[in-house]
This record gives sequence, C-alpha cells and structure tokens, in this order.
Amino acid sequence: MAETVLNVQHLQVKFRVSKTETLTAVQDVTFSVREGETLGIVGESGCGKSVTANTILRLLPEKTTVIAGGSIDFEGQDLTKLSLKEMRKVRGSKISMIFQEPMTSLNPVYRIGDQMVEMYQANSSISKKEAWKAAAGMLEKVGIPSPELRMHEFPHNLSGGMRQRVMIAMALSSEPALLIADEPTTALDVTIQAQVLELMRDLQNQMNTAVLLITHDMGVMAENADYVLVMYAGEVVEYGSARSIFKNGMHPYTMGLLESIPRLDQDTDQLNTIDGTVPSLSQMPKGCRFSNRCSLCMDRCKEETPELKELEEGHQVRCFLY
Ligand SMILES: Nc1ncnc2c1ncn2[C@@H]1O[C@H](COP(=O)(O)OP(=O)(O)OP(=O)(O)O)[C@@H](O)[C@H]1O
Ligand SMILES: [Mg+2]
Repeated sequence: MAETVLNVQHLQVKFRVSKTETLTAVQDVTFSVREGETLGIVGESGCGKSVTANTILRLLPEKTTVIAGGSIDFEGQDLTKLSLKEMRKVRGSKISMIFQEPMTSLNPVYRIGDQMVEMYQANSSISKKEAWKAAAGMLEKVGIPSPELRMHEFPHNLSGGMRQRVMIAMALSSEPALLIADEPTTALDVTIQAQVLELMRDLQNQMNTAVLLITHDMGVMAENADYVLVMYAGEVVEYGSARSIFKNGMHPYTMGLLESIPRLDQDTDQLNTIDGTVPSLSQMPKGCRFSNRCSLCMDRCKEETPELKELEEGHQVRCFLY
C-alpha cells in the first residue's frame, strides 16, 4: 500500500471581512493523497478549491485568513501549526505548486536560465555551473527543445505551453513529495493542455509524486485523477475513486458536472450547464447549499443540512436522496 503523503482533516477556513464579521469559505473538508496518486478537486468557480490548496501552503493573506479548524498532516507534522518561517522551508522543496498563469510565478525581467539557477541554488548547495547543467537537464526532460538556448531567453519569448513546461520543470526540480497544480492547463488550448498533462503524469510516475490536481473540468479529471473530491460552496459533496465517480456519480451536482463534459456526438453550443450560480459566502442557502439549483430538490433539503455519508466503500455523498 502506498504511503499517505498529505492528510487533511476537517479543514475549516474563514476570512475576516470586517472587525466583527467572518465568512466561511471552506467547511469541514477531509481528504488524503498517497504517493504516486492524483487526487482531483473539482467544482465551479468560487467553490473553495483554491482556498483549500492555498491553505496547505499558507499562501493566503495572514491578516484576514483564519484556519478555524482541522489539521493538515504532511510528513508527520501539522502544517497549520508551523510558523511562516518553517513553512517557507516546506514550500518549493517538499511541496511545490503550479498555477494557471505561469507569468505570475516567472519573473518577466529575468532570463529563464537565471531564474532556474537561482532556484536550484536556493534548494541545495551546488555551484552555479552545476545548477545551470541541472536546469538544462530538467528542461530537456519536460520537452523543451534546445534547452541551453532557451535558458538565455525571457519568459515572454516562450509560448504559453512552453512556459507551463518550464514551470513544471521548476516545480519538480526539488523532487517534491507533493505537487499542487491549480488549474495548470486552463489557459492553454486543448491539444497543448493534453500534452502538458501527459508530461505531468510521466514525471509523477517517475518520481512517485503525490499530486493534488485542481480543475473545473470533469474531462481533465477523467483523464488524470485516481480519486475525485467534488466541492460545492466550500463543502465536499462527493468523494470517491475516479472510477466510482465516473461510473456512479450520485450527487445531483456531480451529475450536473458530468453532463457538462463535451461529447463528440454533441453540438458544442448545446453544452449542458447547471442553471444558476454558486452562492456567495455571505448568502449561503439554508439546508443543503445546492438546494436552490437542484432539479431533485425535496422539502427537507431547504430546511435540514445533509451529512456526508459513506454509501459504498470509499464513496461518500452529501445528499438526502440516499
Ligand atoms: N482572500 C480572500 N478574502 C475573502 N474571500 C476570499 C478570499 N479568497 C477567496 N475568497 C472567497 O472564497 C470563495 C472560494 O474561492 P476560491 O478561490 O477557493 O474558488 P475556486 O473554487 O478556486 O474558484 P475558481 O475556479 O474561480 O478558481 C469565493 O467566494 C471567494 O470569493
Ligand atoms: Mg481557483
């Protein structure tokens, strides 16, 4: 059995919006990721996917963010208890993160090679020459042609797909135990997206990395995740193996997301979407948070809050239908 790398239990994250008021963005979220496995977190915009991921690395504004409950266990320590200084040692070495827009992480005024060398030298005591060589090797691994030449270029000289490859090279250069990828390919077109995800999977297999993959795209999930966590309005509404979710997705929200996967036999302008929008943090509906958008809503759904229940082994659903 593969070792558990990350274990998040009952995580609750709130934001201070005024002197007296806080809003809850993430409510009682529990999941774990094992070596070599990919856990996908899926849900529409505003469901709390990034807040969950950024809380693991403590990337949210310290002043206004409150980790109000739960624990984040990583290599035997609870990350919620670390000081920011201790957290910095974990970030980029043991846990790496890639974001949707590589330009937010790459510095536009430094050449690719210099940025990579700096990062290698920050993580280990090697010479500049060795770091340069290691960086070129890593770029080669992620499929950048003529890496030594590319290293003399600025980020804007590369295409979006190439930049994201550079980001992956940088994120994996320290051979982290955990890689968090928050919508890593959303900004890329479909063919490039598939290539970049395939590259990520290859490297993950070689290094046995645990991956937390965040996307709003069920199609990407189907291709890449071993386990799937469906989030709605800050809560887990369904959790299970990718196989059980795709074969037997049970929550009406999950079913809505599954119906929104484009099919080859379907006109793209008739894509099914779920009516309505995710409620804002200050206007959560009473009862089930999805009730006002659910076509299967019953009376009790508007009054009572459903619990997350295990319906089959390892498959949990938060819905009164079951
Ligand atoms: N720093 C913050 N202060 C206050 N509210 C925030 C903050 N960051 C996020 N939120 C709110 O928390 C909720 C969850 O946001 P989050 O960014 O996690 O969504 P998401 O699922 O990642 O969406 P997307 O698919 O658009 O990236 C949203 O309502 C958002 O407005
Ligand atoms: Mg996000």
